[in-house]
Amino acid sequence: VRARTIRVETAPAYDVRVGPGLLADVDAATSSYSARAIVTDENVAPLYLGKLRASAWAAHVTVPPGEDSKSLVVVEHVLDFLVESGLDRRSCVVALGGGVVGDVAGLAASLYMRGIACVHVPTTLLAQVDSSVGGKTAVNLGRGKNLAGTFHQPALVLADTTTLATLPDDELRSGLGEVVKTALLDGEEALAELEARAEALVARDADALADVVARCVRLKASIVARDPREANERKALNLGHTFAHGIEHAAGYGAVPHGVAVAVGLVLALRAGIELGVTRDAALVERVEALHARLGLPRSLAELSQRHAVRLDDPRDLIVGMLHDKKGAAGAPRFVLLEAPGRWRIDVAAPAGALERWLA
Ligand SMILES: NC(=O)c1ccc[n+]([C@@H]2O[C@H](COP(=O)([O-])OP(=O)(O)OC[C@H]3O[C@@H](n4cnc5c(N)ncnc54)[C@H](O)[C@@H]3O)[C@@H](O)[C@H]2O)c1
Ligand SMILES: [Zn+2]
Repeated sequence: VRARTIRVETAPAYDVRVGPGLLADVDAATSSYSARAIVTDENVAPLYLGKLRASAWAAHVTVPPGEDSKSLVVVEHVLDFLVESGLDRRSCVVALGGGVVGDVAGLAASLYMRGIACVHVPTTLLAQVDSSVGGKTAVNLGRGKNLAGTFHQPALVLADTTTLATLPDDELRSGLGEVVKTALLDGEEALAELEARAEALVARDADALADVVARCVRLKASIVARDPREANERKALNLGHTFAHGIEHAAGYGAVPHGVAVAVGLVLALRAGIELGVTRDAALVERVEALHARLGLPRSLAELSQRHAVRLDDPRDLIVGMLHDKKGAAGAPRFVLLEAPGRWRIDVAAPAGALERWLA
């Protein structure tokens, strides 16, 4: 398995490299910066920090694992660490970890001295296929998720697929939910590849992971290059997410891995699309349900609620979460719906009474 390189044509442009063994390249890839500092978490540090062989050149700071680290307090702690480590405007931050580390390190890098380079070294499937690419950074506020953040494109992304070997099963599934989303947006070829390699992915086959991560990055890179600030087309990446935000709210944040909620959101969005006459191929929903089953993803609210011991039987709880979805225009949640694999429609409003029906 060799590394693949995907160029993201934002201004400035950057490379995303995907493949096994890339942790060993971090040192050389960052050697031209005046100083380097690593941000990681307590789970990832013992597993992978040593593999960077960075003790000679870089200081590191370790944040507690989990969503609670996405706070301004933790960002300030990281910023203080950057000062203490002597970073200047020509230095770089290395984000080693999942989406939480990427968001915190990315935000700190974008604020430090009005913005320094950030190199992402994502170690979860979700971070490799989604959060490390595209330049969104954010932390949570008391009133909601991702409410304070910036756009700060990385200088480079090195996605070492061998790190996925140690990922807990739930976190692998979470990434797989975003992988199915990306394949649906990409088109028939991507969906067919996923169907052909579902068991290999679950078995964490190195080739299958590298191919699928690279394909997801290619799709996200092309969308982000056309619409870096989410004025329009980039909203398509929220396919399944309006429903997912309802699920995450009703279940209590953290009770269900994000991408697992997205997986159920995809099925609900396809059903909604069929009802509204947007999704033409009614068999697509069964096709995605079959794929979910092979990937170990839940296919319905009932299945999700049973597996994660959460209550999702009151549509009103989910609707509150969907209304809080900050991407919706004031008041009414907006949906991304699929016409067919590779063809989407954004900003679709639900007709009166439809939400209750879709969530029942
Ligand atoms: N910026 C964006 O564009 C964007 C996009 C999607 C999601 N996100 C954000 O990403 C976050 C979720 O990211 P995530 O799913 O990667 O979660 P995470 O960063 O919390 O990682 C999940 C868990 O896996 C552990 N872990 C990480 N790598 C590991 C490895 N290789 N082996 C073993 N354990 C490992 C972590 O310590 C953590 O406990 C959310 O906060 C979400 O808002 C951001
Ligand atoms: Zn997501």
